[in-house]
Amino acid sequence: MKKMSRRNLLKSGTLLGVGAISAGPVAPDMKAVTSARDHQDGSGSSVRTLGSGKNAIEVNYGLGLGCMGMSFNRSYIPERNKSIALIRKAYDMGVNLFDTAEAYGPFTNEELVGEAISPFRKNITLCSKFGFHIQNGKMTGGLNSQPKHIKEVVNQSLTRLKTDHIDLLYQHRVDPNVPMEDVAGTVKDLIAEGKAKHFGLSEAGPASIRKAHAVQPLTALQTEFSLMSREPLQDVIPVCEELGIGFVPYSPLSRAYLTGYINERTVYVATNDNRPTLPRYKPDALKANWKIIDVLTAFGNQREVTAAQVALAWLAAQKPWIVSIPGTTKLAHLQENLWSSDFQFTPEELASFTAEITAIPITGDRYPTPQTK
Ligand SMILES: NC(=O)c1ccc[n+]([C@@H]2O[C@H](COP(=O)([O-])OP(=O)(O)OC[C@H]3O[C@@H](n4cnc5c(N)ncnc54)[C@H](OP(=O)(O)O)[C@@H]3O)[C@@H](O)[C@H]2O)c1
Repeated sequence: MKKMSRRNLLKSGTLLGVGAISAGPVAPDMKAVTSARDHQDGSGSSVRTLGSGKNAIEVNYGLGLGCMGMSFNRSYIPERNKSIALIRKAYDMGVNLFDTAEAYGPFTNEELVGEAISPFRKNITLCSKFGFHIQNGKMTGGLNSQPKHIKEVVNQSLTRLKTDHIDLLYQHRVDPNVPMEDVAGTVKDLIAEGKAKHFGLSEAGPASIRKAHAVQPLTALQTEFSLMSREPLQDVIPVCEELGIGFVPYSPLSRAYLTGYINERTVYVATNDNRPTLPRYKPDALKANWKIIDVLTAFGNQREVTAAQVALAWLAAQKPWIVSIPGTTKLAHLQENLWSSDFQFTPEELASFTAEITAIPITGDRYPTPQTK
């Protein structure tokens, strides 16, 4: 797995966006790399580790790239070749963790990611997920983590991803109809067969995490976590800490809200966006919660960083084993998000910023029905 930090990227101009996005990947020169963070904390690296021991994965920048929005649920879908080029550009910039799922599309996002990463497949951590019931190519809203089904759909994912293994295979949602021990046992079999390398859960509660981890140690829990959704700090993050499991916040920018990019006037592509169905994205909630954007913007302005960068840096500040996966379709946003790894809160800043944010009540639930089980 390639490791990096950032100074050589700054030197080479890669991260500054010099040159157009190319379809051909150029492996970053990892040798000369030193990051701005190296100077700040002496840690010598902006690499973060998810999971422990032989289940550990190292992640450059401490950030991965969420690929879902390139095909699914985020309104505008760029031309396929543009998204392939963006994923390859991310790799050129040192990104080495890419997140997808069979449910995104469904299927089309895995096909896109599989093609995009094929030239450098061995050098990256490829993450995908199973667990939804998909019928005739359509999401039904139901779940299916029956062992036989998992084995079938993982084979299909491997074909779409053009690979013989998934580095981090997640169960997308806990299936109340299948004992967690059976799910973990099935993933253990897939690991023994070489079809998966590591195991993760998404939106699993403490009891599910413990049951799974006892059968097949987990590398990561992927759950929504952002300044708008801070519940994991109370329940699952302490369990991850106790068991040595990494934590991957999904929707770390609260689906663009924390960037200040969307507001109550935003018009979504109704056929390809789940935000209008989520209580927190109703116009009244967007308006009521704007005080959070004001705090982010004021804090960032005084430190020459953007609201998005503050939001990502706050997540990274919670634990050294947190690796967010912001999604984007734009090189400028990718650069901005990766640069967040160079900003670190001082302990005093973190305390006062967190106090200011937590004093603001959040309007609107994150989903219409509870997700975590
Ligand atoms: N496990 C799960 O159940 C689950 C659920 C949802 C998502 N995920 C994973 O998490 C990843 C990220 O989640 P997400 O897409 O829901 O939310 P997100 O990362 O919080 O937000 C993505 C949105 O923010 C915008 N954005 C990103 N960076 C920006 C910046 N610097 N400035 C302005 N806008 C910016 C993107 O638009 P642009 O394209 O315009 O940048 C996109 O609309 C997904 O790709 C997926 O891999 C997992």
